[in-house]
Amino acid sequence: MRFQNRTVIVTGGSQGIGAGCVRVFAEAGGNVAIFDIDTVAGQRLADELNAAGPGRVAVFACDVRDTARIAAAIEETVAEFGQLDCLVNNAGVHPPATPIDDTSIDDLEHLFRINFVSTYAAAKYAVPHLRKTSGTIVNMSSMTAVLGQHQSSAYAATKGAQLSLTKALAVELGPQGIRVNAVLPSNVDTPLMRQWAATLPDPASALKRVSELQVFGRMAAPEEIGRVCLFLATEDSSFITGQGIEVEGGASLDY
Ligand SMILES: NC(=O)c1ccc[n+]([C@@H]2O[C@H](COP(=O)([O-])OP(=O)(O)OC[C@H]3O[C@@H](n4cnc5c(N)ncnc54)[C@H](O)[C@@H]3O)[C@@H](O)[C@H]2O)c1
Repeated sequence: MRFQNRTVIVTGGSQGIGAGCVRVFAEAGGNVAIFDIDTVAGQRLADELNAAGPGRVAVFACDVRDTARIAAAIEETVAEFGQLDCLVNNAGVHPPATPIDDTSIDDLEHLFRINFVSTYAAAKYAVPHLRKTSGTIVNMSSMTAVLGQHQSSAYAATKGAQLSLTKALAVELGPQGIRVNAVLPSNVDTPLMRQWAATLPDPASALKRVSELQVFGRMAAPEEIGRVCLFLATEDSSFITGQGIEVEGGASLDY
């Protein structure tokens, strides 16, 4: 019950890593607000977790490309649960592998809108509430922010922007009692991962190759990322801010 009587927003919480976060926070007794465009999957998850308890899960229709809607959904969350203690900026997309020559500037701006501008906007509108609770922000970046990724320059840049924002915001908001950290997963078994593999000529061998990048020979489960987010959202991490926590199963070792 490490998150009892506290409230977290998880953007993109209906499936994948976000759903893993929602499960972990709900199991820790928290109030969880899912912000997602897929409200059907979100409500299915909420119904399951509300039946199991002890946490409470509510779903808010929110396309994170719409910053005014993010602001409104944050106010709706505080009206519903009374306070805000943590924001997990997780919603994001990964386009198919594309060389720079074939990436239009419109594609780039579109990707920044979903993966980065949403992160900035949600932080901006959450901060007035987080000041009241000495709350935390967790940004779902990626190991691509520090390692790069083949034919994914636009995606990696959005993840790098999230990491830089994390550090600058930690400096700005630390004196106000708010901690800001990022989580950098390597490869997590999610619908996004499987969609990405499906764009390649041989999806099964792509998933095998991606699994073998980690020293454990497997991808992370979404809940393994969720547990790191819970750690970053509680006093257990009270002296950690501005960090990019590499949750990568050893993928960057053993060159
Ligand atoms: N899967 C991985 O291996 C991996 C690795 C590193 C980082 N990440 C990051 O983790 C995050 C989640 O990835 P995932 O693999 O769980 O993805 P996913 O596609 O499985 O789930 C993403 C969720 O975000 C929601 N979403 C998408 N666009 C949205 C929008 N405009 N507004 C609101 N919600 C929206 C989807 O409906 C879905 O519920 C992303 O930011 C991704 O960059 C994933």
